[in-house]
Amino acid sequence: MAAPGRFITFEGGEGAGKTTQVKRLGERLRVLGHDVLETREPGGSPGAEAMRHLLLAGIAKPLGSDAEAMLFAAAREDHVTSVIRPALAGGAWVICDRFLDSTRVYQGVLGGVDERLVRALERVTVGTTVPDLTFVLDVPPEVGLARAGKRGQGTDRFESEDLAYHERLRQAFRHIAENEPNRCILIDGTINADVLAVRIWMAVADRLLRKRAPAAAAAPAAKPIAAPTPAPAPDPTGTVAG
Ligand code: TYD
Repeated sequence: MAAPGRFITFEGGEGAGKTTQVKRLGERLRVLGHDVLETREPGGSPGAEAMRHLLLAGIAKPLGSDAEAMLFAAAREDHVTSVIRPALAGGAWVICDRFLDSTRVYQGVLGGVDERLVRALERVTVGTTVPDLTFVLDVPPEVGLARAGKRGQGTDRFESEDLAYHERLRQAFRHIAENEPNRCILIDGTINADVLAVRIWMAVADRLLRKRAPAAAAAPAAKPIAAPTPAPAPDPTGTVAG
């Protein structure tokens, strides 16, 4: 049986540069011979893509925020079950443009959906398929919205909210990243896309490729939490295993 794959998600406000970085990371992993699936939410499977249209066109908005959250959850359930889990089971690296943190932020913090409902939906749809690593791309709303406008895709249901809304989004994503440092990395999304891609790659290599090496060969953690026991010497070449 193939070794289980790795699951990486990208999160952030509008125009944070996620889509570009998903592609860049996918290309890099493929060059190394990994099997890679790039996907997105809402969407990523035929059923979820049909629901994406309803969600982004604002058709679900009049139903209320709880119903809208349930529709996002229905889309995620189909995507996770029919696409993400099978790919991970087959040993692929799955890179997803938005995932559970977007629901926590857009529907939970900003949409006012009770956190208990958000968590319950997450248990049903995500279960144990939690990302191994999440990049939260941080950009000021003025920058992100200008970029989103530049893409010429018009304003969707969420892009059309005001600047204060987008600033709250940003803070909510930052809050998640600060609270879950083992899973999340907050990264400045205003820097040059090439430099950003390198930083992302270094983090992936450090957190996920090294972890695949046998424990004895792994470099010591950057921030030891327990009292130090004699640790193996760090690899002087800085070579990434995997
Ligand atoms: P998209 O065009 O993919 O935007 P972006 O380029 O900003 O990722 O639109 C996705 C929109 O859906 C985005 O505004 C965030 C929203 N969304 C939610 O509200 N909840 C969710 O769970 C997800 C996955 C997305």
